[in-house]
Parts: sequence; C-alpha cells; structure tokens
Amino acid sequence: MSITKVGVVGCGLMGSGISEVAARSGYATVVREVNPELLAKGRGRIERSTAGAVERGKLAAADRETALGRLRFTTALEDLADCDVVVEAATENPALKKELFGNLDRICKPSAILASNTSSIPIIELAAVTKRPEQVVGLHFFNPVPVMKLVEVVRTIRASEASVAAARAFGESLGKRPIIAKDRAGFVVNVLLVPYLLEAVRLVEQGVASPEDIDEGMRLGCGYPMGPLQLLDFVGIDTTYYIAEILFDEFKNTHYAPPTLLKQMTIAGLHGRKTGRGFYSYG
Ligand code: 3HC
Repeated sequence: MSITKVGVVGCGLMGSGISEVAARSGYATVVREVNPELLAKGRGRIERSTAGAVERGKLAAADRETALGRLRFTTALEDLADCDVVVEAATENPALKKELFGNLDRICKPSAILASNTSSIPIIELAAVTKRPEQVVGLHFFNPVPVMKLVEVVRTIRASEASVAAARAFGESLGKRPIIAKDRAGFVVNVLLVPYLLEAVRLVEQGVASPEDIDEGMRLGCGYPMGPLQLLDFVGIDTTYYIAEILFDEFKNTHYAPPTLLKQMTIAGLHGRKTGRGFYSYG
C-alpha cells in the first residue's frame, strides 16, 4: 500500500517526536491533541527540536521549513479521516486508548492502518475494539524519536501480513530499523528495560547508593549513555509507573511491581524533566 499522509494522535514527548520524523521524511502529517494548549506545547517542542537539528548540522534550514510546512495541527480527530496510517501516541492508559481506537476506526478511511505507540499494552486489546483488527499493529518508537534508530513493529494474532509489511516499510521510510515482536505486554525492549529501571529505584529506596553514584556506575561500568535514574527522568517517572503497572498486571511477576517511591513520585508530580524535577532537578 502507498502511504502519503500520516496522522499522529497525541503531541507529547513521543507524539511530537513521531510527527517531527514523519514530516522530515516527506509525509504530510496531521497531529491531533486534545486542546489548543497541549497542541501549542507540542508544536513548540517540534520547532525547538528541528531548530536544534539545524544548529547541529543534521538538517538544512530550508529542509526544516519544508518539514514544518508538512505539519498540520488540529484538535479534531475527524481531521485524520484521510490519513493512510495513524500512529496513536496518547497517554499510557488502556481505557483511553481503547476509546481512541474505537473512534479512529469509525473516522478513518477503510484502508488506513491504525498503529499504537503503546509501550506496554497488548495491541490485540486495541485491535479488538475495531472492525479492522487485521489492520491494527504496534509501532513502538524510542525517546528521543528523532535520534533513536529503533522501532518495534508488533504483530498481533489478527494482523494481516500485508499490514505488518506495510508498517515495517513505513518504519524504514522514517529512517528507523524495525524489529518484529510478538504481541505481548512490553514487547522486547521494555520487558528488558523496565525491570532494570525499577531495580535502580529499589536501590535508591534501600539507600544502597546515591542516584548520582548509581547512574555513574552504569555509565562508566557498562557504557550506557545515561544511568537508569537519568533515563527514568528522561522517559518520565509517571510513564514508567504506568508501564510497570501494566506489565505487573499482565505477568503477575514482582520484577515488574512498581516500587513505592515510583508511585509516590508520580502522585507528587515529580515526573522528571518534563515537570522540572524527578530524581534530579532541572532549571
Ligand atoms: N534530529 C536529529 N539528530 C539529533 C536531534 C534531532 N532533533 N537531536 C539530537 N540529534 C543527534 C545529535 O546531533 C547527536 O548526533 P551525533 O552523535 O552524530 O553527533 C546525537 O543525536 C546525540 O545528541 P547530543 O550530542 O545532543 O546528546 P547526547 O550525546 O547527550 O545524547 C541521548 C543524548 C541521545 C538522549 C543519549 O543520552 C541517549 O542515547 N540516552 C538514552 C536514551 C534511551 O535509552 N532512550 C530509550 C528510552 S526507552 C523508550 O523510549 C521506550 C519507552 O516505551 C519507555
């Protein structure tokens, strides 16, 4: 199938990154947020990220203008009606995502592929609320989307080969390297990553080492670009908490049980970089 127009639902950390990459890859891209304030915030994020790419010499100034010109911002889900593929990147909340998929199924043209960027929810739960389960797949990107090279393409037991192939080709057209994963909560990367992050929170809770030393340990000891607590602040304390709850619910394995500190930081609004404070403070 040929993809020329892309829809993105949600313009938060992930949605704005996916929209930026789609527009920079030549796609007419419609981005939808729930209200004008969040839309303006997301738009600002894309403008700053692409300006940074120009400063670093990764993007020509003229190409930035062209890419920004391919983006259309809206608060109406109906504006995604003629998109060939829609990537949902809303908050990690199963009920909200199911409602969105029901609405997208009603609104989007019959040939459209509906993809979710969920980090942890089994895609079949979203496919099951649509009348086109064979066209529903997972497309899981990594933060920061313009930089990270991976996309997980998630194949459900109802997905057609054609849809999986189209999603994979779409991921490649965005300059990403797709890996195909079975439809299981957490797919490949988060099943490995989340227990590691949660264990780092437990080390802080138990006073085994300071956040700085834990992070330095993993940076210098294992060559990771960021330590686990820096990464938690970067991905979002709240997002990681929601992912852990979903994984724990799915596997009933204490590896995935969110530590009390993570829950309390979520409740307290210490969500990491996006709120200015998490394990570290940001100016
Ligand atoms: N467009 C294009 N390129 C960009 C860019 C943009 N908007 N912004 C940055 N870059 C490029 C830079 O030019 C640089 O390229 P170079 O290496 O060729 O010079 C590269 O990206 C790195 O940028 P910086 O030098 O500014 O930044 P750092 O070297 O400090 O790296 C980082 C920042 C890439 C965030 C690095 O710290 C890192 O890789 N951290 C780990 C991130 C990670 O693990 N992400 C996955 C999280 S898990 C997830 O998302 C899944 C979810 O479900 C939880």
